[in-house]
Amino acid sequence: MRLFGRREKNEHRILREFARRGADELQPEYHRATPECPEPARWSMYDSMTAEAEVLEFLRSVVITTKPKLIVETGSFMGVSTLWLAEGVRQNGFGGIVSCELDPQVFAVAKQRIEASGLQQWIQLRNQSSLELEVAGPIDLLFSDSDLPVREQEVRRFLPLMNPHGLILMHDASSHLKVVREAALRLEQEGLISTVLLPTPRGLVMAQKRAGRL
Ligand SMILES: C[S@@+](CC[C@H](N)C(=O)[O-])C[C@H]1O[C@@H](n2cnc3c(N)ncnc32)[C@H](O)[C@@H]1O
Repeated sequence: MRLFGRREKNEHRILREFARRGADELQPEYHRATPECPEPARWSMYDSMTAEAEVLEFLRSVVITTKPKLIVETGSFMGVSTLWLAEGVRQNGFGGIVSCELDPQVFAVAKQRIEASGLQQWIQLRNQSSLELEVAGPIDLLFSDSDLPVREQEVRRFLPLMNPHGLILMHDASSHLKVVREAALRLEQEGLISTVLLPTPRGLVMAQKRAGRL
């Protein structure tokens, strides 16, 4: 859609629709079918930016299962995945999330949502690019979910800070979206990470850094 002659960002369009609806609404996932995930409509989503509902559940479970002390998320968008991660942290009773969102308008919505959630104590939200975000490692869980073309750079950037027993999750790694999948496979070919490609509608890489693995 064009607003005042400029093309509206997808993120802003979804924020506008969310403000109009006033609530999250689940719908069948409409990412196109891929060989690895031929029936995406069996999954659910709130919108095309927020991770699939099942992936959100998975994020919470991974936090409860692996008990990370430090979680880094790139691309907070409206804070929905941040809040699912934080649900896991709350259940664990320790740990914290640093989540960054580049777009100031999107950041403001995420901030408001997180402040209203009762989970704020577990979250540091930064209006910053993942490529400038400074964290004191070790990172136990990295959820890479920012702009597709920067995912490889951000994983390379955070790799030295990764706990070798920690997990790297890269979202949007379907064979249709390609860019993230190819980035993960390149990192694997270079011997930097080991990967598993989970067959979800938009694709999810689960990886671990090779250096330091026992
Ligand atoms: C796919 S959405 C994130 C969805 C969110 N993780 C969820 O599942 O609820 C990607 C977000 O990354 C933000 N973004 C893009 N480039 C970024 C960067 N370099 N650093 C941080 N955020 C970025 C976009 O503004 C957008 O809000």
